[in-house]
Amino acid sequence: MPSPAKVFSAATLGLDCLPIEVEVDMSPGLYNFQIVGLPDAAVNESKERVSSAIKNSGASPPHHTNRRVIVNLAPADIKKEGPAYDLPVAVAFLLASDQLLATEIASKIFVGELSLEGKLRPISGVLSIALMARERGFKEIFVPKANAAEAAMVKEIKVFGLDSLEQLFLHLEQKELLEPQPATELNFVFDAADSGTDMAYIRGQEHAKRALEIAAAGHHNILMAGPPGTGKTLLARTLPTILPPLSFEEALEVTKIFSIAGRLNQEKPVLTARPFRSPHHTASAVALVGGGNHPKPGEITLAHRGVLFLDELPEFHRDVLEALRQPLEDGVITVSRASGAIEFPAQFMLVAAMNPCPCGHATNPEKHCICSPALVSRYKRRISGPLLDRIDLHIDVPAIKYDKLASEKMGEDSQVVRARVQAARQTQQVRFKNDKIKTNSEMNLQQIKKHCQLDSAGQEILKTAVQNLRLSARSYHRILKLSRTIADLNGSPNILSDNLAEALMYRPKEDNF
Ligand SMILES: Nc1ncnc2c1ncn2[C@@H]1O[C@H](COP(=O)(O)OP(=O)(O)OP(=O)(O)O)[C@@H](O)[C@H]1O
Ligand SMILES: [Mg+2]
Repeated sequence: MPSPAKVFSAATLGLDCLPIEVEVDMSPGLYNFQIVGLPDAAVNESKERVSSAIKNSGASPPHHTNRRVIVNLAPADIKKEGPAYDLPVAVAFLLASDQLLATEIASKIFVGELSLEGKLRPISGVLSIALMARERGFKEIFVPKANAAEAAMVKEIKVFGLDSLEQLFLHLEQKELLEPQPATELNFVFDAADSGTDMAYIRGQEHAKRALEIAAAGHHNILMAGPPGTGKTLLARTLPTILPPLSFEEALEVTKIFSIAGRLNQEKPVLTARPFRSPHHTASAVALVGGGNHPKPGEITLAHRGVLFLDELPEFHRDVLEALRQPLEDGVITVSRASGAIEFPAQFMLVAAMNPCPCGHATNPEKHCICSPALVSRYKRRISGPLLDRIDLHIDVPAIKYDKLASEKMGEDSQVVRARVQAARQTQQVRFKNDKIKTNSEMNLQQIKKHCQLDSAGQEILKTAVQNLRLSARSYHRILKLSRTIADLNGSPNILSDNLAEALMYRPKEDNF
């Protein structure tokens, strides 16, 4: 009489992951194949895939057994979603029906979708599963071949990439052993194919380039406003070329997010470049911040540790922009759903571009603006004050003169700028080595107090500015953080009056908003 068999699989919940026990019990009676333990439709359909896959792999499928086959997925209170349970269900059935003999099954994790012929199809979230396997002390993880390089970012466990169920069968029976997947070595060399435009190709706009350098150095948010065709979109696209490469830990974090979102492919199983996301202005709030029935990360989470570029900012729906307020402040987004809230990280740098008015020429001395004052103010009101208050650098990108545009003189290479940005990041790394944060923009009040001391001249400048510009408390703290970054870029241990004065230059002009 066959006994119940148990193998381990995994369920992803937001970015996290939990082990799931897949138990198969067979009892005498009329044939019946049932899956219990909160399966969704895709898991329920697993019965058909598993049966065909087993048959086409040369073994005897459930309907040949003339027994009641019950699959239990535990713990029962977690919703089981997606097709990744096909493989563990097949393995547990083969064990329960005495068709497979395997040892140390409890130290292995199985995940993967099966095709009807018994081949394995890639699934999402494999990196989270491998990390969980390491944490919980599992020794081996069996995944579809296409996911193997991703799982092998976790070096401490053995990863086996599978083409077919038959291959796994032969391996577990020790008839034809599989080679474990070699650890995935990450190549953090700057990848030109991944990058945007080099800064050297942008003529003029030195002021904007300087502001982008500061934004990159301290991970500050930036808004560029100016007439059409002056290079705002172009400038934003240079950012990936001046940002420092990801660290290994950051690459893990970012890859995990893209994996859960199902956005990795076999050619690119891991991410080594900082994300640059530029959602279209018609994007919905869910697409931007995440959510849905089986909550998926939105654009702001996909931009974690990288850039979220919102081109034509006033064209975005207002409620979509308002949804950015909490994550901009906290670096995380909480997505609620019926069974509780899920948190996704969202430590992104917001880069936005806009025209000053609908025709685009309100700030252009060379051209006449045809918009009525009411129209201009309605256009600007689409972006709320609280959102603007969260942006540290506000800059004008003016039209450039013909001489500059036609000049042969190239600007500074991105590589040179990136070296300065990296040096400033290095300073911040040392400063925050005992804190959880990485950059100046993430400082809390206590850290601001500790690291942003002003001398008396600086205090005087800031006092006048706060009074004259009627700055909010948030703006006050943001100016201090920005000055800290400018001082870091200039290699100054203290914040000098010059640094502070430059930071103040990047506040929005009051009549603008
Ligand atoms: N400073 C510049 N140096 C070199 N080329 C430029 C510059 N500014 C604009 N261009 C040229 O103009 C094109 C349009 O620039 P871009 O799309 O960045 O403008 P924009 O400011 O985003 O305009 P819009 O407000 O209409 O979106 C670029 O593809 C480039 O060919
Ligand atoms: Mg543009």
